[in-house]
Amino acid sequence: MATGRGAAAGRRETVLITGAAGRVGTLLRPRLIRPGRVLRLLDLDPVSPGPGVEPVVADVTDPAATVAACAGVDAVVHLAGIPTEAPWDELVRANIDGTRTVLEAARQAGVPRVVLASTIHAAGFHHRASAPERGLPPGVPPRPDTYYGVTKAAVEALGSLYADRFGMAVFALRLGACFPEPPAEETLESWLSPEDCARLVEACLSSRATGFRILWGISRNTRRWWSLAEAEEIGYAPRDDSERFAGRFAKPAPGPDEPGRVGRSFCHLPLGEWGPGPRRPARTDSGH
Ligand SMILES: NC(=O)c1ccc[n+]([C@@H]2O[C@H](COP(=O)([O-])OP(=O)(O)OC[C@H]3O[C@@H](n4cnc5c(N)ncnc54)[C@H](O)[C@@H]3O)[C@@H](O)[C@H]2O)c1
Repeated sequence: MATGRGAAAGRRETVLITGAAGRVGTLLRPRLIRPGRVLRLLDLDPVSPGPGVEPVVADVTDPAATVAACAGVDAVVHLAGIPTEAPWDELVRANIDGTRTVLEAARQAGVPRVVLASTIHAAGFHHRASAPERGLPPGVPPRPDTYYGVTKAAVEALGSLYADRFGMAVFALRLGACFPEPPAEETLESWLSPEDCARLVEACLSSRATGFRILWGISRNTRRWWSLAEAEEIGYAPRDDSERFAGRFAKPAPGPDEPGRVGRSFCHLPLGEWGPGPRRPARTDSGH
């Protein structure tokens, strides 16, 4: 359902997706295409043009380029950044500077709604033993498991600031492992299927909720111990359960793990070294 300003005014709704060429962006793009909606797809890496799609090659730390990308936009889905542990300076630039620049550009352009990709690793040291029966609430204070998690806690704080100061609706999604299938045993708890990821983002785009909210981005997994009630309040209706993949993980993965903690093996990653996942070299140019 398109309920942005564009839809209300009878014109096409425009949604800016940053980091659109990445893993989550690539999974989300086809699932967010709607009649009457334009997806503006921003990334350092080019995205192929197509019907209802406007590719933009830009760096989210470039204020002028980011303000230009926000022109006429009804909502921003901000995914761009480094999605794993990495050297501190690179994380700060991509995740904190990038998010501040995007929020400031959205404010200047009058964009009323922003969805921020946070991560479960902003709260990675929370323990299952302290979770209430109904599940760990999404608004628990940050308890990062890595420098990566620290930068996402800062992303959440920036979202809160822009919501309180400027009346923007900001949703910070503490995303679990968003892959077509759970990649490891530990992600049977925290898996977010691509369809459920799209359902959650769509709920944020169409919700009338105002202010700042933190929500878990987790599927309806049998093994989850996170509360989905807060996301369900804004219309998230997850359908997928990782349990159907459980049989393929007969043995736990080798290496240090922290069962019972949100962040699991991330609680042991060496700080400031590149962690698992795609490595994105730092770039300072805004186009290539
Ligand atoms: N994939 C997951 O399971 C997962 C889980 C939790 C949170 N997240 C968050 O979701 C977001 C997307 O993750 P992903 O797995 O798709 O990562 P990814 O690395 O595959 O994609 C990130 C994209 O952002 C782009 N990017 C990086 N820096 C940029 C910059 N300065 N300007 C413009 N574009 C830039 C990259 O080119 C890349 O295409 C990240 O913010 C990540 O922290 C992902």
